Amino acid sequence: MRILEVDHLTKVYGKGETAVKALDDVSFTVDKGEFVAITGPSGSGKSTLLHILGGVDTPTAGSVVIEGTDIYKLNETKLAIFRRRQIGLIYQFYNLIPVLDVWENMTLPLLLDGQKADQDYTKELVKTLGLEKRMRHLPNQLSGGQQQRVSIGRALMTHPALVLADEPTGNLDRKNSNEIVELLKFSNRKYNQTLIVITHDESIALQADRIINIEDGRITRDELLRPTMHKECIPEVRV
Ligand SMILES: Nc1ncnc2c1ncn2[C@@H]1O[C@H](COP(=O)(O)OP(=O)(O)O)[C@@H](O)[C@H]1O
Ligand SMILES: [Mg+2]
Repeated sequence: MRILEVDHLTKVYGKGETAVKALDDVSFTVDKGEFVAITGPSGSGKSTLLHILGGVDTPTAGSVVIEGTDIYKLNETKLAIFRRRQIGLIYQFYNLIPVLDVWENMTLPLLLDGQKADQDYTKELVKTLGLEKRMRHLPNQLSGGQQQRVSIGRALMTHPALVLADEPTGNLDRKNSNEIVELLKFSNRKYNQTLIVITHDESIALQADRIINIEDGRITRDELLRPTMHKECIPEVRV
C-alpha cells in the first residue's frame, strides 16, 4: 500500500539574486512499512525535504500526499492536527521540552490531541526503549542516547503514518548510535512503521530497504536494497 506520494516538489528559499533552490522537482513514492534512508552531501536539500514531508515547511511547488491526504491543501489548523496524528519527527538534538519529564514529553502529542495513552502500548514502548526507570527524569538528567529514546517514544506514541528522522544518531557515539538504529528498525518491523531516515552514516543507510540519494536538490539515485521485510519473519530485538 502506498503511504506517501511526493510529486514534482520544489522549494526555493529567498527571492531574486539570493534565491536558493533547495529542492528541484523531486518525485517519489513510499509504500507502507518501507524503511528508506536519505543520503547526500551537506546542503543538498535533505532536511528541507524531510521538513516538507512532515508538514513543518511549505513547498514552493508540487504536492505531498500522505495516506491519501494532499497535506498542503489542508488549512493551517487541519494541517496541525494531521501533523500531530500522522507524523513522528525525530531530530539530531532530540528537541525535548526541558521542563517536562520523560513521561510528559512522550505523551505530549496525545495530550495536545485530547487523547489518552493506550496503557498496553505505552508500557511496551517504554520497556522496549529501556526507559522504565527514567519516567520521572527531566531531559537534562538523561544521556544523549536516552534523550533520543524519549524522542523516538514521543514520535511513535500516536502510531503515525510516517516517522521522519533527521540525522537521529548524528550526536551519538557508535554504541548509542547502533542502539538507536536497532530501535528504529524494531518499530519498522514490529509495527510495520514506515520510516524515513536522513543519515551521513553509510553503515546505517545500508540497513535500510532503500536508499534515496539527493544532490543539489535532485534525486540522483533511488536504489532498492531489499524487499520490505514483513514483521512475522523477524525475531524480536531487545537493546
Ligand atoms: N530557512 C532557510 N532559508 C534559506 N535557505 C535555506 C533555509 N534552509 C535551508 N536553506 C538552504 O537550502 C539548501 C538545502 O539545505 P538543507 O535542506 O538544510 O540541506 P541538508 O539537510 O542536505 O544539509 C542549502 O543551500 C541551505 O543553505
Ligand atoms: Mg540537514
